[in-house]
Amino acid sequence: MDDGDRRWIESMPTAYERGLVEPVFIPFAKEIARRAAARHPARVLELAAGTGALTRELVSTLHGAALTATDLSAEMVDLGRGNAPAATWQPADAMDLPFEDSRFDLVTCAFGVMFVPDKRACFAEVARVLDAHGTFLFAVWGRLDQHGFQACVVDAVHEVFPDDPPTFLETVPHGYADTEVIRADLDAAGFDTVAIETVTLPLVAETAADVALGYCQGTPLRAQIEARGSLDDTTNAVAAELARRFGGHPIRTSMAAIVVEAMPR
Ligand SMILES: C[S@@+](CC[C@H](N)C(=O)[O-])C[C@H]1O[C@@H](n2cnc3c(N)ncnc32)[C@H](O)[C@@H]1O
Repeated sequence: MDDGDRRWIESMPTAYERGLVEPVFIPFAKEIARRAAARHPARVLELAAGTGALTRELVSTLHGAALTATDLSAEMVDLGRGNAPAATWQPADAMDLPFEDSRFDLVTCAFGVMFVPDKRACFAEVARVLDAHGTFLFAVWGRLDQHGFQACVVDAVHEVFPDDPPTFLETVPHGYADTEVIRADLDAAGFDTVAIETVTLPLVAETAADVALGYCQGTPLRAQIEARGSLDDTTNAVAAELARRFGGHPIRTSMAAIVVEAMPR
């Protein structure tokens, strides 16, 4: 898929926030914020902050730290600023950071690195803006079969479009799930990997309909569905499959992410 297909635009951040943030992103935001607090950072940069799920957790755990939150999407930055006003928000591409060298002692990112086309360029920028003793703390999704909702959404959209299925979830959110590739990219950008581990958490959402709305209309999967057929019919088909697989109200399964801590060499 081309870079345009990775962007969060127009109404997508609102559907993302309504359907996905609480069940899918807040549990890992709490986990990452807990790890960030253990480092006692004073100057923190968040990349790909989206609507501010991790930002809010960082604000409540990192007392007194100066927090700068960034995202490529201006729409995300607007929503995020409203959700976490204690942070300083600005648009920024993670591959071209508008900050001077050694400006931060922690750079963090929840589920954004997978979207960056050139990981090594992004990691080199992170190394540049980090203090020599700083930490890069980030999470990416693990394998697709370790994420109950996302595996189910993939199966459901394959049923709807069997001849030409959308590939967004497999190739982008779950396209950076190899720990050896992550280690090699960090090494090439001048980092030592301090810790890299797969963390599995429970995944619980109030309704299948909201989760289906979040994935089908609140992520770049939306453009791939619209290019093939009806957005509403596909959203309904995904909701029905989520409810069939995981129960009615709430729906429950589990999800795994790779959590990484690295330091500049
Ligand atoms: C799955 S969302 C994660 C948002 C947030 N961190 C959370 O946990 O809810 C991915 C985010 O990456 C952002 N993004 C994509 N490419 C980016 C880039 N090159 N630089 C910065 N942000 C980017 C998107 O705009 C989107 O907000």
